[in-house]
Amino acid sequence: MRVILLGAPGAGKGTQARFITEKFGIPQISTGDMLRAAVKAGSPLGLQVKDVMDSGGLVSDEIIIALIQERLTQPDCAVGFLFDGFPRTIPQAEALRAAGVKLDHVVEIAVDDEEIVNRLSGRRVHPGSGRVYHTLYNPPQAEGLDDVSGEALVQREDDKEETIRKRLAIYHSQTQPLVDFYQQLSAAEGSPKYSRIEGVGSVDDITGKVLEALN
Ligand code: AP5
Ligand code: ZN
Repeated sequence: MRVILLGAPGAGKGTQARFITEKFGIPQISTGDMLRAAVKAGSPLGLQVKDVMDSGGLVSDEIIIALIQERLTQPDCAVGFLFDGFPRTIPQAEALRAAGVKLDHVVEIAVDDEEIVNRLSGRRVHPGSGRVYHTLYNPPQAEGLDDVSGEALVQREDDKEETIRKRLAIYHSQTQPLVDFYQQLSAAEGSPKYSRIEGVGSVDDITGKVLEALN
């Protein structure tokens, strides 16, 4: 199964991706996680993208498309995949199509901007695994520590209110056009199946709705 999870920053893509990939035995391909790993490792890619990521801007389409092309050649993608945070611009979606990658589902998780700001200001992450928490909505068992490893949780550099607002503005101008793009494709070609779900409610409720959309 080949799926795109579409949604604003903080809509819950990473949170839901975990359940879906486990259930279907497919890898999660999060361009954000891949780029953050490169930054952490201090690789040439990481050095190139760090400033733009910290400021909430988008990394260039060329870099992202090359990253995805390389990732899709890996054997675990043979069974399918779930894209989280990709594609994010029309050129990225066009590149995927030009590469002949057929998609089964696009699931849009819709959450309004004020709720996004609440979610991202309280988000804490475990850098090693990408596990995501929220100080109020989804707290870890021990404050500030990852449930599995016991290691410290951190706040993402781009989760400051001013940067969150900038990311939202970029989402509306650059990424939201993908809603029309995939709805039209779905209407014209019968696939991918497009589903829009309301992303407000408990994490479990949203998981239920996502799974229903995928069945
Ligand atoms: P990326 O990592 O993709 O960030 P994003 O799209 O901004 O999305 P987030 O990770 O912020 O949100 P999410 O939807 O995963 O929400 P989460 O589950 O964590 O990208 C980061 C940067 O990398 C970009 O800014 C850009 O620079 C670059 N980049 C990446 N991909 C790119 C691309 N394709 N092209 C160009 N540049 C690219 O949840 C958020 C919070 O809410 C958490 O605290 C969580 O616990 C909480 N929460 C989740 N669900 C619920 C719920 N139901 N109720 C209450 N709280 C909830
Ligand atoms: Zn994420």
